Amino acid sequence: MNQLTHLAVIADGNGRWAEKRGLTRSEGHEHGLHKIDDLLHWCVDLGIPFLSVYVFSTENWNRPKEEVDALGELADKYFDRHREFKESNVRVLISGCADNLKQTSLDKIAHLQEETKDCTGLTLNLCANYGGRREIVDAIAKGARTEEEITAALYHRLPPPDLILRTGGHQRLSNFLLWQSAYAELHFTHTLFPDLSFGEVKHIKSAFERETRKFGGVIIDKRTV
Ligand code: IPE
Ligand code: IPE
Ligand code: MG
Repeated sequence: MNQLTHLAVIADGNGRWAEKRGLTRSEGHEHGLHKIDDLLHWCVDLGIPFLSVYVFSTENWNRPKEEVDALGELADKYFDRHREFKESNVRVLISGCADNLKQTSLDKIAHLQEETKDCTGLTLNLCANYGGRREIVDAIAKGARTEEEITAALYHRLPPPDLILRTGGHQRLSNFLLWQSAYAELHFTHTLFPDLSFGEVKHIKSAFERETRKFGGVIIDKRTV
């Protein structure tokens, strides 16, 4: 049985979820952030120690200013929750670049990471202002050349994602964890992110556990060589 150590989620569909209900897209993002809290609890219940969630891409700046501003405000509020995360023993890491971010937001990010750095429970890696290509370019700019050096120079040293789950129905990575996803299992669901349920995540985890992962090898007598 495969061990699900790192679940990575492309949290897509907030906008459509809101539009279906006559709400603004920004209200959809607010519900999406609440769903991340649910996900954290589910990961603890399911014994998954690392959770990455993609919440804002380097390309999402192309959205209308009103939506981008609302997302920025929601993110700032989220970064302020360091006490809560610390009490829940959650280590929070932010993956992304600093471009276009206000200094106050960068300070909040630094504070949140510092305050939760010794937490030993779940690790939440929030990918905000994140682009997979940019992460690789940033690693190379630090002088990394080999596979080992690039892996070591990524935003954070985390185990590679075992499973990438994308909600919202599209079957694409949209610039998420391009380096780290080399051997990740991929799961796409039509469920919109705010509608994601514990039952569905549990089901997806079980399907992942039964999958044959070979990493380029072959299976002989149930061993991968
Ligand atoms: C994902 O939801 C969150 C962000 C990209 C910020 P979307 O806002 O992309 O929702 P849809 O895909 O338009 O429904
Ligand atoms: C991917 O969703 C990024 C996040 C979920 C943060 P998008 O909605 O931005 O992706 P595309 O534009 O449909 O590929
Ligand atoms: Mg989308």
